[in-house]
Amino acid sequence: MMKKLFAVILLLALLIPSAMAEETAPCILVVYLSRAGENYNVGVTREGSASAAYAGYIEKGNTAMMAAVIAELTGGDLFEIRTVTPYPEDYASMLRVAQEEIDTDARPELAAQVENMADYDVVFIGYPIWHGRMPQAIYTFMETHDLTGKTVIPFNTHEGSGQSGTQRVIEKALPNCTVLQGLAIQGKTAQEDPERTKSLIEPWLEGMHMKKTTAGAEAEVLAAYEAIQQAMIDKDIETLDRLYEDGTTFTHMSGKKQTKAEFFGEIADGTLNYFAYDIQNLKITVDGNEAALSASVTLKAKVYGASGSWTLPVTAHFTKTNGQWIAHN
Ligand SMILES: Cc1cc2nc3c(=O)[nH]c(=O)nc-3n(C[C@H](O)[C@H](O)[C@H](O)COP(=O)(O)O)c2cc1C
Repeated sequence: MMKKLFAVILLLALLIPSAMAEETAPCILVVYLSRAGENYNVGVTREGSASAAYAGYIEKGNTAMMAAVIAELTGGDLFEIRTVTPYPEDYASMLRVAQEEIDTDARPELAAQVENMADYDVVFIGYPIWHGRMPQAIYTFMETHDLTGKTVIPFNTHEGSGQSGTQRVIEKALPNCTVLQGLAIQGKTAQEDPERTKSLIEPWLEGMHMKKTTAGAEAEVLAAYEAIQQAMIDKDIETLDRLYEDGTTFTHMSGKKQTKAEFFGEIADGTLNYFAYDIQNLKITVDGNEAALSASVTLKAKVYGASGSWTLPVTAHFTKTNGQWIAHN
């Protein structure tokens, strides 16, 4: 009995679609200021540099690295804040320039503006900490773009100062925005440890519901999978028949194969009953009209008189035919 039960569960799991909900995704922009060149505690030492004892050369700034991860995980667009007068590559000179900007409460002119700001609902604003503050060019950015009504999320890199009070500074500067809690990551981590960087960013984004969901063809495949799931719960054989290619077989772990008719018959007559499911680690890949979906599915079912909840790996294949994704072996 146990063997058969397990076989049936596996069979069921192979057919379980996702429970992921589709929501209208916000339009996200990831704006950042970051400096390549010499910086503290990272990069490769340059011979002859005055600050070689504590600063190395990097090709891409630490905040730029952090911004790229945020853009990838949110599906947001990237925009780099650049100043008309570029910042010096040399670390010692940069320290001086940053201090001068603070002392004069400067508003460095930006080389480009975000022309389509109206398109965005959410704006991440990223920057390094310079002398305990955000670069003055961030003020220029906030003062020369209309961010009214938008959700603004700060993020920054640093070498020990954390956010250094910049959360409050941004909240005060943008009273007409909803400013969510920002995230600070050490510059060295952002530069050298992408895995840790991602592991810090991911839960922060999830907590704000900013991680991207599936889109386009992936969403269609997901919808097809969900339709199958719902039809199995509803014992809607007509829909199941439509969403499974004719000739699809359902293989038990024991090796026993069932036809569509046999499998659907057991759903219809109450031998197989689906109640609930939970999807984790969903991955959908689409290649033209072919798609594959894999996930880890926890399934609640009553099969052959036994009730239970099981978590199993799932792989399902789909082909798009006449505009509809159809499942098959
Ligand atoms: C001019 C300057 C001043 C800095 N001041 C601070 C500071 O006050 N506190 C701190 O933790 N890090 C400070 N740092 C280190 C930077 O915040 C850190 O290296 C950051 O990751 C640089 O980001 P970026 O590579 O995107 O420019 C400073 C760096 C520079 C260049």
